[in-house]
Amino acid sequence: MIQISPSMLSCDFAHMADEAKAIVDAGADMLHIDVMDGHFVPNLTLGAPILKCLSKAVPAFYDVHLMISDPLRYAEDFAKAGADLIVFHLESDSDPDKTIAAIKGLGKKVGIALKPGTPAQAAFPYLDQVDLVLVMTVEPGFGGQSFMGDMMPKVNAIRRECDARGLSMDIQVDGGINGETAAIVAQNGANVLVAGSAVFGKPDYRQAVAAIRESAQAAYPRAK
Ligand code: DX5
Ligand code: ZN
Repeated sequence: MIQISPSMLSCDFAHMADEAKAIVDAGADMLHIDVMDGHFVPNLTLGAPILKCLSKAVPAFYDVHLMISDPLRYAEDFAKAGADLIVFHLESDSDPDKTIAAIKGLGKKVGIALKPGTPAQAAFPYLDQVDLVLVMTVEPGFGGQSFMGDMMPKVNAIRRECDARGLSMDIQVDGGINGETAAIVAQNGANVLVAGSAVFGKPDYRQAVAAIRESAQAAYPRAK
């Protein structure tokens, strides 16, 4: 099933709760929260206190993308702040096995993320333990960058490996997703699509979410 996770990084932060409500009303399946520490990536965004306020104000499924050097240290803070899914980078300093176990122990869904330079095979040892694999389709750090089509063999390879193991994995893509690129990623086996500027940059959020969903749905192999 195709799921759309609009990235709050592109919202109007002066009205974050209203923006989140509008996106939920527009038919989003989850809300993508980009956490950056100015160390793992060259940008700073927000931390657990803001998520705590937002999740209290707006009930939704919170998809938290940790672009931080030590996700193991902060996983509990985000779990307590209302995260439903916590995704951390394999390139971070935290031990992946320990981090996966910690997030599961907190009763949350867990995902592993791969930067563009990290090969599909890096995810393979963890596929049996995680709920989701995030293939970055831009270098993490900023919204509004151009989609990297050369990541599609990676998405494909992870989908094929999951199929071979009989795993119904969620494969998420993040970066440069819009009505056109949605079809490309879905064709290659991605089913959870993050979109920032392609949703918040449009005047009609409902139409923007629907356009991405329809384009992906039509191209997703399983949907046919
Ligand atoms: C980038 C973030 C993305 C970003 C996507 O580091 O992880 O979630 O907000 O924004 P768009 O869809 O504009 O590329
Ligand atoms: Zn993200």
